[in-house]
Amino acid sequence: MNQPQTPKQPWLLTPGPINTSQTVKQAMLQDWGSWDGDFRAMTQSLCEQLVSYVDNSGEFVCVPVQGSGTFTVEATLGTLIPKQGKALVLINGAYGQRMTKILDYMGRDYVVLDKGDYEPPRADEVAAVLEQDAAITHVLLVHCETSSGILNPVEEIANVVEHYGRRLIIDSMSAFGAIDIHSSSVRFDAIISSANKCFEGVPGFGFALIRKDALQQSASNAHSLSLDLYDQWHYLENTGQWRFTPPTHVVSAFIQALKEHEEEGGIAGRFARYSRNQQRLVAGMRKLGFHTLLADEWLSPIIVTFFSPGHENFSFQRFYDLLKAHNYIIYPGKLTTAESFRLGCIGQLYDEQIDGLLEAMVSVLDEMQIPDGNPNS
Ligand SMILES: Cc1ncc(COP(=O)(O)O)c(C=O)c1O
Repeated sequence: MNQPQTPKQPWLLTPGPINTSQTVKQAMLQDWGSWDGDFRAMTQSLCEQLVSYVDNSGEFVCVPVQGSGTFTVEATLGTLIPKQGKALVLINGAYGQRMTKILDYMGRDYVVLDKGDYEPPRADEVAAVLEQDAAITHVLLVHCETSSGILNPVEEIANVVEHYGRRLIIDSMSAFGAIDIHSSSVRFDAIISSANKCFEGVPGFGFALIRKDALQQSASNAHSLSLDLYDQWHYLENTGQWRFTPPTHVVSAFIQALKEHEEEGGIAGRFARYSRNQQRLVAGMRKLGFHTLLADEWLSPIIVTFFSPGHENFSFQRFYDLLKAHNYIIYPGKLTTAESFRLGCIGQLYDEQIDGLLEAMVSVLDEMQIPDGNPNS
């Protein structure tokens, strides 16, 4: 599985696009006719396999959408939330914020429970909002809030939403495929993700796994033709084809990526490798004096935020450039209150890459004449 990258390809310690295997890349070397039976069969098997991860009662369908993850979030909210509906958006970072922006564009009513940069929303807080606002029809939750790396307490929130008879939509963009979530234990109407995160495909489409009865009631909700998931689903059901040009090569790569996901042990296998990456990374970084933003309880195996070193020689751009010269691409922080950076644990990363990054960190701190990663020095 651990295939060497060519020297020019950097190691991406990012939340996606991520490093993909050579075989996933090779799967794009063939052309496909979008209406052809072979490609229709590929779409069908992709959808069936994705649904099988969350449901085996026949109640869910998969609707793929062209574009990046945000297109799918926008399509799902626009399709499932009726014009007269009202959302409660649970925010603790940039992707929760983005959902409010999407709702603003669409003209849907909403309220927020905003926990700042990284505190998790808790069941009692959600219950209090739902208790006093009967107009709320949908609750929107980000599974792993990639801007801090926090893993939000999905099950706890889902139980409250179900108790109050409202509908839950989960943006699991950066977690689905590595963190188990199943309709038999968590009640939700839709879960959203994309090709280029934990399934380790290349970027080009997203997908929503939607409760069929919720989608069936959504025929005239959408604000946009190309983002109408009801119409996309209907067309897929009737013809086996995507409406409008599908990203054929991306789908082909994704079929290969799904195969490799299975070979690695499915969601449990991915979770195990990403968790190992995260633990190795956090232990190594702490040895160098770096501090994580979050307590261990809330760290996800997807991405980890570290405070920047407090030393006066530190500049993120120089740190980034020096690590890049060692062939490692890191990710800037997204906190409003403190200087930070992020290191992703997903994609084709193994012990060798994590250890290589840690060695590069030592050299870079040395080159910057910073004694350690301590944010308080
Ligand atoms: C939780 C979450 N939601 C939404 C998105 C947006 O996806 P994209 O950048 O592919 O539009 C991301 C991207 O990392 C994400 O992590």
